[in-house]
Amino acid sequence: MATMTRLALASTLLLLLVPVSADASHSQHVMSANSRSSRGTVSDVRDELVKAEIIPTVIDDFVPSLLLQASWSAHDQTQLGNTLKPADLKDAPALIIANPSDGPAKKASLVIALTDPDAPSRNDPKWSEFCHWIATAPAPDLDDATGEMLHLRALNDVVEYKPPAPPEKTGKHRYVFLAFVAANGTEEVLHPSKPGARKHWGYDGDEVRGVRQWAGENGLVPVAANFIYAQNDQQ
Ligand SMILES: *[C@@H]1O[C@H](CO)[C@@H](O)[C@H](O)[C@H]1NC(C)=O
Repeated sequence: MATMTRLALASTLLLLLVPVSADASHSQHVMSANSRSSRGTVSDVRDELVKAEIIPTVIDDFVPSLLLQASWSAHDQTQLGNTLKPADLKDAPALIIANPSDGPAKKASLVIALTDPDAPSRNDPKWSEFCHWIATAPAPDLDDATGEMLHLRALNDVVEYKPPAPPEKTGKHRYVFLAFVAANGTEEVLHPSKPGARKHWGYDGDEVRGVRQWAGENGLVPVAANFIYAQNDQQ
């Protein structure tokens, strides 16, 4: 029951973001979350990452300090494991970040990554992970209001967005968004390395290597995550 309540609150917080997404081009400060409902939401994010085995398959255990949402349209947003259609994911999504804590968030430059650990399928991840996107973002101004949600601006692609395109008969793929900051917490614009290939994030050999190793090599630590499932119509 307690879990359901917290989940409901988390969903409410994330759903609050829905109406603003279409208006991405205007004011940067889009709305304030209700701080009462935000307690516990970051641990709900962690719980969902564990349930979907994103922790520990993709990333080591961590407790998020920020909330992240990707929004392709008013109807198509990451909601911690909802299923969306590849046809609705063609263009790079708007990215929204929120600080759910009662205190100010430390101002730090962000790096956003999108990875598929289920390439070509979750049962046979021999190309995994597949890198779909890496972008840097200047430090968002999250320190002036509790629970404020901001569209990330002035994203700079390190690896261009490649829309999810799960092959036929490969079941549901997890598409995982991660937000990182530099471990040293710098506000300087970050210039992480560009993987040599999308498959395996350019690393040789083994299955399911990618964003964790790349983030480690670039001095990055995760602060937020969200994910969807998507599958080919032909199953
Ligand atoms: C902080 O870390 C980033 C990412 O690893 C690095 O590019 C930057 O030079 C570091 N800054 C300082 C002041 O150490």
